[in-house]
Amino acid sequence: MIQMTPDGGNVAPRLTVIGTGYLGATHAACMAELGFEVLGVDTDQRKIDDLSSGKLPFHEPDLPELLQKHTASGRLRFTTSIEEAANFGDIHFIAVGTPQRPGEGAADMQYVDAAILSLAKAIRKDALIVGKSTVPVGSSRRLKALIAGVTHPDSRIDFAWNPEFLREGFAVKDTLRPDRLVVGTDSVAADLRLRGVYASALDRQTPYISTDFETAELVKVAANAFLATKISFINAFAEVTETVGGNIRTLADAIGHDRRIGRKFLNAGVGFGGGCLPKDIRALQARVSELGLEHTMRFLNEVDEINLRRRERVVHLATEYLGDLKGMTVAILGTAFKPNSDDVRDSPALDIAARLFSAGADVNVYDPKANQNAANRFPRLTYHDSLSDVSRGADLVILLTEWSEFKTMQPEDIDRSVKKRIIIDGRNVLDANQWRAAGWQFSALGHRPFVD
Ligand code: UDX
Repeated sequence: MIQMTPDGGNVAPRLTVIGTGYLGATHAACMAELGFEVLGVDTDQRKIDDLSSGKLPFHEPDLPELLQKHTASGRLRFTTSIEEAANFGDIHFIAVGTPQRPGEGAADMQYVDAAILSLAKAIRKDALIVGKSTVPVGSSRRLKALIAGVTHPDSRIDFAWNPEFLREGFAVKDTLRPDRLVVGTDSVAADLRLRGVYASALDRQTPYISTDFETAELVKVAANAFLATKISFINAFAEVTETVGGNIRTLADAIGHDRRIGRKFLNAGVGFGGGCLPKDIRALQARVSELGLEHTMRFLNEVDEINLRRRERVVHLATEYLGDLKGMTVAILGTAFKPNSDDVRDSPALDIAARLFSAGADVNVYDPKANQNAANRFPRLTYHDSLSDVSRGADLVILLTEWSEFKTMQPEDIDRSVKKRIIIDGRNVLDANQWRAAGWQFSALGHRPFVD
């Protein structure tokens, strides 16, 4: 990570990370762990206060420890001042959000634009700005021109795009030990500086892909579109096996043995959610349409629809079991979009819980980490803190997020608390035979309902 200065001295660049949400907070703490001095910047004073006192505003394994370690050591600080960041930093990582624009598929670039513009205006020295957010292809060139338009005459600002592939739940590992690094730039100096930042990963032979802006931007959305397609592919087959019979898990195992296909991301269930996959496939479609290529990514529309149909399927199954849902008590296991996360953005689990509530059911919910975030969105569901509490008096139990607590639960854990022994496994993680042998009516997505 130590870089040579033009006069031959050694100096580690000072880093800033603009935007301290999921991506930014993780990147900032991990860069401090690599030995850099880091300043995190956000407009949200509360977030900055929390982070400064070592408090992480979301759940992510291993990150609180890193945050506390480096806020205590002084290597990691936080501020709301973009001027302070401009003064402090040699390399500035942009990690602000690009949410879906309300009522549209396209990504909202206003936060990226504002962050880069205010930073570039404030910089009075030589610096490198590196975009990490997920953006529509073509953004880097536009942003580079924006920067050039406001750069102070005494400064030189380089620019690169370095997409992030971290998964929630594994964010620290994915940042400290990435499976690849991608850098898009037209500046040799920028590329060299980033190789310096990522030197420890490069020492471990991590693939480093140095490319142009467009490829770097597209790599990120292509990866997420592929993953989403893979999930909807198996979920489309789940619709077939639900009708004709067959075992979706065995089907996935069997095709997954083909190394060209691979078993990962072939778990059939209630489908994908979260802050990335759903928004990224919509933004990609919107962007290629703007480019006059509306047919090119049309299949992603199907991917999205297959995914959303899984949610309807669970509501349909609930109705098949219980008839009219009015007055029925349903226990929902999990609201996070996936385990080891407290994120409920576009969560299939929470969406299904809300749909059941709208259909008149009394919905009891338990998630080991995401109750608070879920309650902020849907305060009218009833939240519980344990498996036994949530299942009390239930006419139906539905597993929707595969936390290990739910994957390993035994029928006898909830046998006596429920009113009726009926369970839907929305993530294909329970042993149907075991539950049926214990006297439960059991259905899993991708399997014919009510059939042994
Ligand atoms: C994703 C990408 O994996 C990551 O590289 C990118 O940087 C950000 O987006 P993340 O949103 O954390 O990461 O979640 P991921 O682990 O990819 O899971 C996405 C969704 O797909 C979850 O809702 C998960 O439950 C679902 N999923 C995953 C399935 O339904 N089936 C599977 O087989 C795998």
